Amino acid sequence: MRNALYFGDNLKVMREMQRGSYHVCYLDPPYNSGRNYNLFLAGSKVQQKAFDDIWRWDDAARENQEAVLRYDGRHPELVETMADLSCCLSGFNTMLRASKGRSEAESMRAYLAFMAPRLAEIWRLLSPNGSVYLHCDAHASHYLKCMMDVIFGARQFRNELVWCYSGGGIPRKDFPRKHDVILRYARGEEVLFNVERKPYKANTQQVGKHSTLSGGHEIDLARGTPVTDWWTDIKTVTGWNPEKLGYPTQKPRALLERIIKASSNPGDIVFDPFCGCGATVDAAHGLGRHWVGIELTVLALEPMERRLRERYKLRPNVDYRIEGYPRTLQDALLLAEQNPTERLRV
Ligand SMILES: C[S@@+](CC[C@H](N)C(=O)[O-])C[C@H]1O[C@@H](n2cnc3c(N)ncnc32)[C@H](O)[C@@H]1O
Repeated sequence: MRNALYFGDNLKVMREMQRGSYHVCYLDPPYNSGRNYNLFLAGSKVQQKAFDDIWRWDDAARENQEAVLRYDGRHPELVETMADLSCCLSGFNTMLRASKGRSEAESMRAYLAFMAPRLAEIWRLLSPNGSVYLHCDAHASHYLKCMMDVIFGARQFRNELVWCYSGGGIPRKDFPRKHDVILRYARGEEVLFNVERKPYKANTQQVGKHSTLSGGHEIDLARGTPVTDWWTDIKTVTGWNPEKLGYPTQKPRALLERIIKASSNPGDIVFDPFCGCGATVDAAHGLGRHWVGIELTVLALEPMERRLRERYKLRPNVDYRIEGYPRTLQDALLLAEQNPTERLRV
């Protein structure tokens, strides 16, 4: 059984995984939004806290930073990266002290210390022609891109994808924020990439090799035009969307399908270390890929199991493995102890 869901802190789980295991990794971590996220319990209006995205410079943050500054060398291929990341974190600290108020600087520091060792592990786990897609927003995308340059190398940066959406939440004194950023990096020089094409605009006409609308560029009307780096055709999972499972921050399956098709082939293994209610594993399964997800919050298992059962008739521990899910109070307390933010509720 290659498909698996792990429950626990992804840093601990990833450290035990073999290098080069995954063809594509999508991650949608907390964004340092300063908010709590609640889950609607199945079939009811009752809410329970799923996870929070509020960061403080506390023991957990110090422990994350130590994982980089005093790397124990268990994976020799990460020693140099961790040394580079130590410089990067210390540069951020200097810059944050200068540019932000004390509490904002502390929370960004804590957030970046959390992300650093996890992004380094992801680099280790990708196959030589693999890719990573890091989903973030304007809260921290600028810092994360610098960190990714340090880990993967600036030359390995391939795209800044902009996912545009609409919906409520209109501020009075700012332009409404209606896009997320997805940073795409390749693990190596050779990268697996399948071009997706879409039809040209309805009124485009081909004249010889050229189009009447594209300013003289060569086109092939029958083949269609490649999807660009800004995506407006994928709706969020809100309102009455039948995909909605009640899990906060759920991402649409179509977003994951586009990413997985672009950077893997059937039979490859897709990895999501912050898998929430499982949009990635769902999309991967539908596309004939194997999948591995990691999630800290035990509340995510119910919606994940539900979608895999309803869409593919998959049975836990028969068709896919579940590792680390607490079955006893003692296990639950152990999982809570593992929580790097020390704020998991059991
Ligand atoms: C933004 S949500 C991901 C949502 C997901 N993309 C979906 O479509 O459902 C971030 C997830 O990361 C999880 N998480 C936070 N810290 C984690 C950690 N250290 N290890 C594993 N999961 C973690 C949270 O519980 C939350 O479910």
